[in-house]
Amino acid sequence: MALWSGRFEGGPAEEMQVFSESLSTDLLMWEEDIAGSVAHATMLGEVGLISSEEVTTIVSGLEAVAAELRGGWVPGVDQEDIHMAVEGRLHALIGPVAGKLHTARSRNDQVALDVRLWLRTRLDQLDGELAALIGALTDRAEADGRTLIPGYTHLQRGQPIWLGHHLLAYAWALSRDRERISDARGRVNRCPLGAAAMAGTPHPIDRVRTAELLDFSGPLENAMDAVSSRDHVLEATSAAAILGITLSRMAEELVIWSTREFNYIRLSEAWSTGSSIMPQKRNPDAAEIVRGKTGRLTGALVNLMTMMKGLPMAYNRDMQEDRPPLFDAIHTAIACVRVMTGCISSMEIRGGPDLTGDPLLATELADFLAGRGVPFRDAHHVVGRIVRACEERGIGLDGLGVAGLQEFHPQFDEEALVWLDPEAAADRRTSRGGTAWSEVTRQIGLLRQTLS
Ligand code: ARG
Repeated sequence: MALWSGRFEGGPAEEMQVFSESLSTDLLMWEEDIAGSVAHATMLGEVGLISSEEVTTIVSGLEAVAAELRGGWVPGVDQEDIHMAVEGRLHALIGPVAGKLHTARSRNDQVALDVRLWLRTRLDQLDGELAALIGALTDRAEADGRTLIPGYTHLQRGQPIWLGHHLLAYAWALSRDRERISDARGRVNRCPLGAAAMAGTPHPIDRVRTAELLDFSGPLENAMDAVSSRDHVLEATSAAAILGITLSRMAEELVIWSTREFNYIRLSEAWSTGSSIMPQKRNPDAAEIVRGKTGRLTGALVNLMTMMKGLPMAYNRDMQEDRPPLFDAIHTAIACVRVMTGCISSMEIRGGPDLTGDPLLATELADFLAGRGVPFRDAHHVVGRIVRACEERGIGLDGLGVAGLQEFHPQFDEEALVWLDPEAAADRRTSRGGTAWSEVTRQIGLLRQTLS
């Protein structure tokens, strides 16, 4: 019998029960539900709405229900949701006093509370996993980052860079993902409990105390907002979806870099798979699946936005559809970050291609002339002609020699050849945030500070 059965003569159809239950997803937050009830009962006792004996009975009853759930008890689907399942079981264990627990609260503030508690814990977990991934990227940048690779734009060779510069680009992007998660957590961390259905309660409850007992920064100020807002769910899912995009771009590069055509890295066996028909295969499935899961994360966000759009105040049952996408997005994000940490920390770095004389050094010649006072636009044009000439003759940029370069511009001299050294080219880019090794190590220091 449902806890709301009083005004009904019969009960809902069996199909309606199955259709409307949220218990199957709610079960993931039973601990949060019980923690909320313990805090609520404690507060009710402190303000004198129930006696201290009743608090003791209710709290130990809740602990017994928790032990049963931990032991694998699965409530039947005749229990609509986790709140009813817990309260129903509590009633069976301790009798009618269990009914006092629902004084000054509603399932509307309960569910809002449970989701916030669940999300707060998982955002912390996600943040910890992200810190580990940033740590892995930073470690690899420091240990193996002085490996020269082409930096690309349009996936065409652009300029020589240190691999460390490239890895740290992701570390910084992921640092902003952490910031977004931390911002979201701040807004998740407000307590809805005691809002009751939407209008508050005539009973002299202490919402500040409930918030304190549950380690929230404070209560949500408006009871209607407390039960009906899900913008924190959208925000957390949005942070997860944006993180998914960062991870997906990283994953794509691991896939490209591990091809025989690029061959910059080799993923460890632990994070690769083989083919059932082609014996030679070593496939980057871990990275591909991370890339693929981006669709789930983005999908979860679109799902939640669409579900919330146009809902009138205050609680609407539509909102119980928030948990499947939210839980899936957060679980998926955590799993993807962990897998990427595994890939990054164990991959073999094989090195970049030989860049001697490569056309990607053309900017060096232009910068050389600019350093000699030639307007950069003119220098760019001169070097463009040099590149074309080298291409026609089938030689590298270093193949013309000083005399050959001087045919294109009198300012070229011996030193121009030094500028064509690929490693020196990278290390010359010492401007803040540049690829020079001195800048890579400066950034490693900064990132380490954010991690400590
Ligand atoms: N199962 C509901 C949910 O998940 C709990 C709140 C139900 N409240 C209500 N008034 N029917 O959102």
